[in-house]
Amino acid sequence: MLARSALRTLSQSRQFSSSASRQTKVAVLGAGGGIGQPLSLLLKLNPLVSELSLYDIRGAPGVAADVSHIDSASEVYGYPADQLDKALEGVKVVVIPAGVPRKTNASIVRDLAAAVARVAPEAHLLIISNPVNSTVPIVSEVLKKAGVYDARRVFGVTTLDVVRSARFLGSVTSSNPDDCKVTVVGGHSGPTIVPLLSQTANGKAVKGEAYEKLVHRIQFGGDEVVKAKDGAGSATLSMAYAGAKFTNDLLRGLNGEKGVVVPTFVKSPLFEDKGIEYFSSSVELGPNGVEKIHPLGSLSAEEEKLLEACLPELKKNIEKGKAFVSQS
Ligand SMILES: NC(=O)c1ccc[n+]([C@@H]2O[C@H](COP(=O)([O-])OP(=O)(O)OC[C@H]3O[C@@H](n4cnc5c(N)ncnc54)[C@H](O)[C@@H]3O)[C@@H](O)[C@H]2O)c1
Repeated sequence: MLARSALRTLSQSRQFSSSASRQTKVAVLGAGGGIGQPLSLLLKLNPLVSELSLYDIRGAPGVAADVSHIDSASEVYGYPADQLDKALEGVKVVVIPAGVPRKTNASIVRDLAAAVARVAPEAHLLIISNPVNSTVPIVSEVLKKAGVYDARRVFGVTTLDVVRSARFLGSVTSSNPDDCKVTVVGGHSGPTIVPLLSQTANGKAVKGEAYEKLVHRIQFGGDEVVKAKDGAGSATLSMAYAGAKFTNDLLRGLNGEKGVVVPTFVKSPLFEDKGIEYFSSSVELGPNGVEKIHPLGSLSAEEEKLLEACLPELKKNIEKGKAFVSQS
């Protein structure tokens, strides 16, 4: 079941879409995978999606045939391994969950980005494939090489950190996750994930050991899932939900809705003076993608410390991604 807030967002989109004529062709690259399949399902339910283009090196036509029977208005097409370019024709939003969980997906992401640059150079790219701290720089460098880079159109999907923060904070404070919206900044792995709990009333109330535990759970929540799946996979269903949620937010922004502000990992001026080109913070989404990058706001002493630990690690991850493209 979609959370209540997401259903509300979806129904807002529905109302909005009836007044907006623009609908969007969305591609999922890696649609046959653990994330890709439920993500395709959730995007099929989104009224802002007019056409769904599903690609994978394995199994996408089957997923497409299955999902296409769902009684929503969008058309669904599936493409096998040798039809990547066809899958990308006319696509405005490309979501990439292709890869191998818990591994570096550098070359997969590089090659998919090159195809997007060639066939759909104006598409918005939503990167789920890990490690996001490095794959977003990889995609950006590939687009730069191809001469089609626009920083407003490349996003690292960090929504799962936001979703987990709301859920875990809700548990700790016995409140509804809807009342626990936490801005999560920094990057998207372990210590680079910095939840700004002090900026919400519920979060501010969590202190001492409970605070330490909560931060750790948000930063390393992925490990819980990997362990529970006996190491055979990582988060797929919650990630698909988070990916669909962020895609919906972007589509709302692209369609001209005002005030869509969510955390995402983008090219950012916030820590550029420290040599950190990409950073996740609250970003306003609009018709061109990134409309405005918000500052962090005030941080508690604990959050300042978390940020201190985040920055050098994030810098290394970004440099690794950039180096991969310059060496390949
Ligand atoms: N951003 C996040 O919060 C987050 C959370 C969980 C997992 N992930 C990442 O998402 C990725 C996918 O995870 P999963 O659990 O769905 O894995 P999975 O192995 O179940 O699925 C990956 C799919 O990608 C496909 N694929 C591989 N190479 C491809 C290529 N070149 N082109 C198209 N498709 C290709 C595979 O055939 C497979 O169907 C991993 O990199 C994982 O680390 C990100």
